[in-house]
Amino acid sequence: MKSEVSKIACDAAANVSQDRLWQCLMDLAAVGGLPDGGVCRHALSPEDIEARAMLIGWAESRGYEVSVDEAANLWVRRRGTHRDAEPVIAGSHMDSQPAGGKFDGAYGVLAAFEALQAMDAAGIETRRPVDMVAWTNEEGGRFDRGCTGSSVWSGDMPLEDYLNDVGVDGVRFGDALRATLEATPDLPRRPRSFAAHAYVEPHIEQGPVLEANGVPIAAVTSIQGVRWMNIEFFGAAGHAGTTPHAVRRDAFQAAHRAVASLNSLMDDPNDVIRFTVGRIVVEPNSPNTIPERVLFSIDFRHPDKALLNEKCRVIQASVAEAAGPCSFNITPTTHMDPTLFPQDLVDRIEASAAALGHGCLRLASGAFHDALYAAKNCPSAMIFIPCRGGLSHHPDEWAEPAHCAIGAAVLTATLVDLAND
Ligand code: GLV
Ligand code: MN
Ligand code: MN
Repeated sequence: MKSEVSKIACDAAANVSQDRLWQCLMDLAAVGGLPDGGVCRHALSPEDIEARAMLIGWAESRGYEVSVDEAANLWVRRRGTHRDAEPVIAGSHMDSQPAGGKFDGAYGVLAAFEALQAMDAAGIETRRPVDMVAWTNEEGGRFDRGCTGSSVWSGDMPLEDYLNDVGVDGVRFGDALRATLEATPDLPRRPRSFAAHAYVEPHIEQGPVLEANGVPIAAVTSIQGVRWMNIEFFGAAGHAGTTPHAVRRDAFQAAHRAVASLNSLMDDPNDVIRFTVGRIVVEPNSPNTIPERVLFSIDFRHPDKALLNEKCRVIQASVAEAAGPCSFNITPTTHMDPTLFPQDLVDRIEASAAALGHGCLRLASGAFHDALYAAKNCPSAMIFIPCRGGLSHHPDEWAEPAHCAIGAAVLTATLVDLAND
């Protein structure tokens, strides 16, 4: 791959409209919008279906080809002069955290959509088609495993493997998927997987580095690895006032010991390991009944696969020791290895930023993204823009309109040149 930036790539980038992009961002944020300014748009929920309908309406009104695949990944195509050439793809996800923000995911989808429109406004043709994609269930906030759509498209996971996952609301993934696909019965179907020339994902940084350095763009070099698991303890319910401690099998106390022991295990003087217990379920969840069952999730991350595997091996022993009189189960859910993006694609993003006159850092991503799976199928990389205070997975998540437009411009230039390879 080459890394000079063509004049038509810069011309297309100059046609990015900050106002048009911002209006789309705000319109989409209203779908599942919360009174505190945040967004709750769970994957495959009625809000997700409404967001899809909004995007489909915009895309059809501009003459793009809209299609969907079996995993409900939504595709919007700007045709190339060589219809059968492998496409260049850009996008992200539209599902959000339960109390998420306006930009995580939505920005990447809408920046990609803006790139298609900027190419139209510039009146340019590309040899390859350019596809915008909105991947299904990146967050994993409703269904326990994130990046569902991109992992299926990449060929890394069979769709069938996800169908019986049960959401936090008790709905089966397969049923929610069917309802989502049934909402757009007339959309043409794309294959579950297909070859692509390249994938570029724009996203807010979700961390503080760009803002702190006053730089509007990062060319993302890698994504750290992630392991998720659910740890469950089973004890015995009983009366809180009368049951002597000596005979209790208290599932919460076992969970409490386990979290303390895992905190020590994950303690890292260099502050590189990320360890989070983000969900806890207590049953029967009554102040005066001894907890019978407790489930808690763990999310831990590190750039080094060997370290992730080593920590995973010792978790079992820590949990077994903490269990005391309770029995336990450990169920791995998400398993993502660290991913390095190809240097030449990262170089091209950096070159696009330079050609458009924007500063650019190279950053590793602490968050996971669909690009991690896309990279298993085709050369992939990411573009980050700053977000206020580095805050994300929070209703106050914020990106400046000017930064959103700069990211879309760098994306547009990169896509145009990739689409003419
Ligand atoms: C993505 O949302 C992540 O948790 O990194
Ligand atoms: Mn995201
Ligand atoms: Mn997220």
